[in-house]
Amino acid sequence: MAAYSKGLEGVVAAQTKLSFIDGEKGVLEYIGIPIGDLATHSTFEETVFFLWNGRLPKKSELSDFESSLRARYEIPKGVEDLLHTLPKTAEPMHAVRTLVSSLGLHDPKPNAIDIPSLRDKALSILAQVPTLLAYFHNYRQGKALVRPDKSMGLAENFLYMLNGKKPTAAMTKAMDVCLVLHADHGFNNSTFTARVLISTESDIYSAITGAIGSLRGPLHGGANEGVMKMLNQIPTVADCEKFIQDKLAKKDKIPGFGHRIYKAYDPRATHLKVLAKQLAQDTGNMPLFEKSTAIEAVMNREKAAKGIYPNVDFYSATTYHCIGLPLDLFTPSFVIARAGGWSAHCIEQLSDNRLFRPDADYTGPHAVAYVGIDKR
Ligand code: ACO
Repeated sequence: MAAYSKGLEGVVAAQTKLSFIDGEKGVLEYIGIPIGDLATHSTFEETVFFLWNGRLPKKSELSDFESSLRARYEIPKGVEDLLHTLPKTAEPMHAVRTLVSSLGLHDPKPNAIDIPSLRDKALSILAQVPTLLAYFHNYRQGKALVRPDKSMGLAENFLYMLNGKKPTAAMTKAMDVCLVLHADHGFNNSTFTARVLISTESDIYSAITGAIGSLRGPLHGGANEGVMKMLNQIPTVADCEKFIQDKLAKKDKIPGFGHRIYKAYDPRATHLKVLAKQLAQDTGNMPLFEKSTAIEAVMNREKAAKGIYPNVDFYSATTYHCIGLPLDLFTPSFVIARAGGWSAHCIEQLSDNRLFRPDADYTGPHAVAYVGIDKR
């Protein structure tokens, strides 16, 4: 029996060429390129092309990729009909999970998993997740659906569909940077979920649907909503110290801090902190940013020695709020980005597949006598 590791901590379950993380030094690279360089110079579309192809696109390749995505923004009519039957009170993460699953019902060949088919389906899913989310948000507010605008890139079009007006260049850029920073991250829980599912040679709709379920959890992607709720609960900067100390005294975890892999500052948080500050200044949200830095200062004093630092979710909360996303669309927006990464992992997994099937350490009894139902 191989060594047991609770939560698979430290277990290497496969090889990947997609992202490299050095948790001690706080390094994240996508296929060798530091995340900061991609956040500064790339776009989400280019980053996804990069992850799916293992190389940066030439100009014409990028423009073909963008055009193919834009051509697929609209969702199948049957999915739109289904959307109109969902309870308006449903949480968007539950709604998007159901709607992504339903995309498979309108694909004439949902089970095709040869690599070209997988890429083709991934492209549609990536193009349509923003539409599903924006439509659900329009619908639950009782508003007319704002149809996608194919003249816009993915980030801009998402914000446009949500709000019904063209976002500013600064907001579009901020959303795009968030998508780049969230696109991939090694064998995180949702990516592993996608790979486990596709390793059975199941379909990509099942893999992405399962990954969305994983991402919803408050220990994973759901933490960004937890951060925002915490920031809303704290009245002023001066209240941060007591609020955090009280929580720590109760051994509560502070959302947006700590990471299974990073024992140093999460490099994504470094960029999001800068972005959050700029956006907070531009949108009159400095008190929110100041509360965040005050919380970070307390956590730094209390927990940095244990390797607990802000993770990607901490400053993304302020960033998303300043971009104007409603609180319950924070984690779903993470889905848009990860749809790129999850798909890249499905392609990688099936390019050299081996079914995931670990062992369990059985700790129950043996040779137990069966007692008939009348004698129990
Ligand atoms: N606040 C306070 N203490 C913490 C925190 C935190 N956020 N995170 C970890 N710790 C402490 C634990 O209490 C524990 O202390 P102990 O050794 O005294 O018992 C120690 O650090 C180790 O914590 P674990 O939970 O065992 O570490 P694990 O590797 O399982 O945790 C996790 C990683 C789940 C992310 C954890 O840090 C956490 O729950 N953070 C809050 C939720 C969060 O922000 N999740 C988003 C992660 S990023 C992402 O998924 C996109």
